Amino acid sequence: MTATSPATTLVHPASPAGPWWRDAVVYQVYPRSFADGDGDGIGDLPGATTRLGHLAELGVDAVWVSPFYPSPQHDAGYDVADYRDVDPMFGVLADADAFVAEAHRYGLRVFVDLVPNHTSSEHAWFRAALTAGPRSAERDRYLFRDGRGPAGAQPPNNWRSTFGGPAWTRVTEPDGTPGQWYLHLFDETQPDLDWTNPQVRAEFEAVLRFWLDRGVDGFRIDVAHGMVKAPGLPDLPEASDDTDPRHHQGPMWDQDGVHEIYRSWRAVLDSYDGDRAMVAEAWVTPLSRLARYVRPDEVHQSFNFAFLTSRWDAAELRTVVTESLTAMDTVGATTTWVLSNHDVVRHATRLGMADPGSFGSGIGADDPQPDLELGLRRARAAALIMLGLPGSAYLYQGEELGLPEHTTLDDTERQDPVWERTGHTQKGRDGCRVPLPWEADAPAYGFSPTGASWLTQPAVFAERALDRQRGVAGSTYELYRAALARRRELAVGSGSLAWVEDLCGATSMAYLNRDLLVVANLGGEPVQVPDGYRVILRSDTAGASGGSEVPADTTVWAVPLT
Ligand code: NOJ
Repeated sequence: MTATSPATTLVHPASPAGPWWRDAVVYQVYPRSFADGDGDGIGDLPGATTRLGHLAELGVDAVWVSPFYPSPQHDAGYDVADYRDVDPMFGVLADADAFVAEAHRYGLRVFVDLVPNHTSSEHAWFRAALTAGPRSAERDRYLFRDGRGPAGAQPPNNWRSTFGGPAWTRVTEPDGTPGQWYLHLFDETQPDLDWTNPQVRAEFEAVLRFWLDRGVDGFRIDVAHGMVKAPGLPDLPEASDDTDPRHHQGPMWDQDGVHEIYRSWRAVLDSYDGDRAMVAEAWVTPLSRLARYVRPDEVHQSFNFAFLTSRWDAAELRTVVTESLTAMDTVGATTTWVLSNHDVVRHATRLGMADPGSFGSGIGADDPQPDLELGLRRARAAALIMLGLPGSAYLYQGEELGLPEHTTLDDTERQDPVWERTGHTQKGRDGCRVPLPWEADAPAYGFSPTGASWLTQPAVFAERALDRQRGVAGSTYELYRAALARRRELAVGSGSLAWVEDLCGATSMAYLNRDLLVVANLGGEPVQVPDGYRVILRSDTAGASGGSEVPADTTVWAVPLT
């Protein structure tokens, strides 16, 4: 029997072969929680280097490493004190070089994380700004302003920090008097730079070159939509307590001036060999605005947070996939897909919540708890939906093990500034940052040789440790491996997308990518893979006995019978 031709709606045609990043699967290493080489309970670069073989075996194309630069760690390293070195906690500069060299030996590309919106308050520039006083060249690199009201005692405007609380902090001047205020869209230890200052621009171009010269393949750009603020820093229409990053709108986000920065950076990257690339962390809506970041002379890719924040709903996911591909196609960019990262509740937990769409800012022991089994079942189904799509996919460390969020972490362990800045009303992001389990029976599940771990790992990590899954048919790890191998073999990343109309309803969706048929049932009655197709991979553990049936919360991959 040959495959019948189902009624389809083509959204995106297959692309000719292009540079590596256009269809890459990129794995995010969050270094403090990946692998601890020296046993202090905090992951480091030498530890990560020894585990790179795991990523090669998994079958990803590239690694994005979250910040490892010198930092007081008030925001887990996204508060950078020196952009050209490595924090002693993570190793020394030579360890970064060794990591990159070993990754390259395995055929893996490396993105490092660039944090250009703000520095740490420990950065030499900010220290100099405090010492130099008002209206100095040193202060002009940041956004210092006089306060409003009598004696300048009120902040210059009504902006709020993304982490909660005001976005302004008042300094004490060198003469001991209460002084100016500086802007920080995040923690008060993360002063925002003034990107209208040519010194700031020159410095970051030099930082790009510093890492490109060391051989990195590109950059993940932190807060890529925030560097330029509206002239005059106008008040928001009304004071807002809304700190949900999905709602980033207003005079501090997505300003047109930011694109000029990316054009200059693109020119820097293009002057190097080897298809170096950038991926933007831009929480921008609608997708047509996001597409502006990935025009041909700007950033190469942007994370697709519309996909990450979709509810477990076939119609909504179908809309997001269609709109994403359509928006990116208007500028010739590839679409990316992502389900988790170090800032959001892990999807194996989100999808097991009564309201699976809830993004939340962390989950604590006193909150409603997820259904772990349902969450894992759906997480596996979501992975096969994502990895069958054309474009590039970003994986967060541990999702290949089906790791859930740590939802019962003791409050005394919390380190995310969100916890303090919201007066303990939001738990924050520590629950998705718990160190990885490598070996079920080893101390700290193999994360660290001494058993130390900067956050306590939950007991469920034992059954999800890598050594319990490696080589085990039906495990989440083997599912990811098989999906990545098939993805490569079938050229899925540079492929097409056409919806199979008969199988797209309220609770299911199906698409063709080249010859690969992906059928996902998001919760309704079982659906059948059409005649003429052979199932090659399924997200449940039914194996061959699953036949051509796709039960609820399951995705299958099928190819035409030949
Ligand atoms: C986005 C990063 O992913 C997040 O972890 C960090 O807190 C903020 N940017 C501020 O740098």
